[in-house]
Amino acid sequence: MVLELPPMCGIFGIVLKKRSAKLGDMMVRAAERLSYRGYDSVGMAVANGDGAIDLRKDVGNIAQTNEQFGYDRMSGDRGILQLRWATFGVPNTVNAQPLFSPDEVMVGAHNGNITNDPFIREKLEREGYKFLTENDGERLVCLTHKHLKNGKSPEEAYTAVIGEAEGDFASVFMRRDSREVYAVKMGSSLYLGLADDFICVSSDLPSILEFTRKYVRLENGDLVVFNDRDYRIFRLPEQEYIERPVTVSDIDIENANKEPFAHFFMKEIHEQVEGTRSLLSLYGSTGVWKDFVEALDKANRVFISGAGTSYHALLLGTYYFNKIARLPIFPTWASQMLPLYSNTVGEGDLLVLVSQSGETKDLMNVYDWAKEKRVAKTFSVVNNIGSTLALHCDGMIPIYSYLEISVPATKTYTNQVMCFLYTAMKLAERRGIAYKGITWDDLHRVPELVRETIAAAEEPVKELAPVLLKHPSMHILGQDMTHPVAMEGALKMKEVVYNHPEGMYSSEFKHGPLAVVDKDYPVLFVSLPENEDLVLSHMNEVICREGIVVHVGQPSRGYDKICHYKLPIPAVGNPYLNSILSVIPLQMIAYEMAIALGNNPDQPRNLSKTLTVD
Ligand code: M6R
Repeated sequence: MVLELPPMCGIFGIVLKKRSAKLGDMMVRAAERLSYRGYDSVGMAVANGDGAIDLRKDVGNIAQTNEQFGYDRMSGDRGILQLRWATFGVPNTVNAQPLFSPDEVMVGAHNGNITNDPFIREKLEREGYKFLTENDGERLVCLTHKHLKNGKSPEEAYTAVIGEAEGDFASVFMRRDSREVYAVKMGSSLYLGLADDFICVSSDLPSILEFTRKYVRLENGDLVVFNDRDYRIFRLPEQEYIERPVTVSDIDIENANKEPFAHFFMKEIHEQVEGTRSLLSLYGSTGVWKDFVEALDKANRVFISGAGTSYHALLLGTYYFNKIARLPIFPTWASQMLPLYSNTVGEGDLLVLVSQSGETKDLMNVYDWAKEKRVAKTFSVVNNIGSTLALHCDGMIPIYSYLEISVPATKTYTNQVMCFLYTAMKLAERRGIAYKGITWDDLHRVPELVRETIAAAEEPVKELAPVLLKHPSMHILGQDMTHPVAMEGALKMKEVVYNHPEGMYSSEFKHGPLAVVDKDYPVLFVSLPENEDLVLSHMNEVICREGIVVHVGQPSRGYDKICHYKLPIPAVGNPYLNSILSVIPLQMIAYEMAIALGNNPDQPRNLSKTLTVD
């Protein structure tokens, strides 16, 4: 199955037969459908004939910006819009898209990332372009503008643009002097909607199905040029015009965003392939990790805090920093940080605050305390770069997972862990430490290995789910770097199955909890290759008491012989890759069990995505 990049910003463009007051209303309805893709800022640009382009944009979601600007009353014969989920440049009015070319003849918007943005910027500056924003979209607009201004056709101009701009993105542009709108798909999803009196293009299908059931699914490398009646699709790599099939959809709009999955939870598990790829590509091209590594290196002592899944990720990160970079770190739950360390944190120490949302109250309490006492510097590791923590801490490193919609975290956990492994390796290099056990080549295998891990777990989770469902309680054990993985697996299960799995350190199990084991009590062991003898011995302690033993990890003859069930991961033979991949079968078994019970894993009872209360 080919998946697009995870949802990140939304774009939409439309051409009507003639000027109409319904343009603004249609664009707002499309924006509402796309609102899950970004709420850091929204911008709309409309034009009529060859009159000036009316561009309005600001921070906020579609409801707020529509109230501010009256988008739904804007009239014209064509328009484009963008909803931003910030990845480059803080969310502010200047960085909001769409963006003008310097002469305001052209306006454009994109989603995704231009990974060689710094190089394009430098090159265009040498040619006289001046930039007002930190946003890579501005470079894309100027690059396109440059080629169109030189007299090239859209086909020629975009051929040149994709020869220079690297990354996964989709973009939409319109001009003052043309009724045509152009859109390009280079990695992010893009659909063309067809109706009798308009043609439109959008990042997702529901925003098109809102107006018409006829659509064309565009493919990577497609440039589409359209007005209200006609469109042509030009293949940029092959330099030829092609036809694509027109589909008449019978899809239920409400479910279309999750397609081809029934829930965001499973979609986001699959998005770990592209999410990890994005992180590696963006860290590599932007050097966004440098400040974090420097802060870690210079700190007197490092304290790291987070809640829930973010805590499990930072706990695994603590192992990486110890093993790879020889950096000792104090890991705590955010709510535990002050009771444990407030009297000992001092000048020169660093507080690292790890949070998907960047808004969790338990972390805000630590930040507020540090700010008031002025005892230590703060650094956030966040997914939402427009969040309070991201904007207020002394430093910030993004994890580039893009929007996570399902309440239980899956893909953001994996990217948090990837962030820590990446920065631990960079820190070791900065300190001249010759670490062993993981190489950059290994790390770059992660996206494909995630894909293989998902495929390998699909059948085994179906077999195991009915067995585990018979038991209201179980243990998930991990040793060394799989301890946080076991805790995260147990949390996933609790969140969506509503049972009671306990994730704990395997060697601790015999110090009391072993007493719960009797006939058929399930214990899942998450293994590392080098711990096989120890894990086998822990398994035998359960087997001889007639418990059910499940092995989660790389297959081996030893496990095959004694385990009742297996949730395998690929035989990577590498403890670090093992620690990243082994959470995936646990996420998947939790999903399988939730579905069997009829629970909605996207919205577990009693929970909310962002906890802004104590
Ligand atoms: O946004 P944060 O990472 O700060 O959220 C922390 C926890 O609330 C969060 O991880 C929670 O445990 C999730 N529901 C886990 O799936």
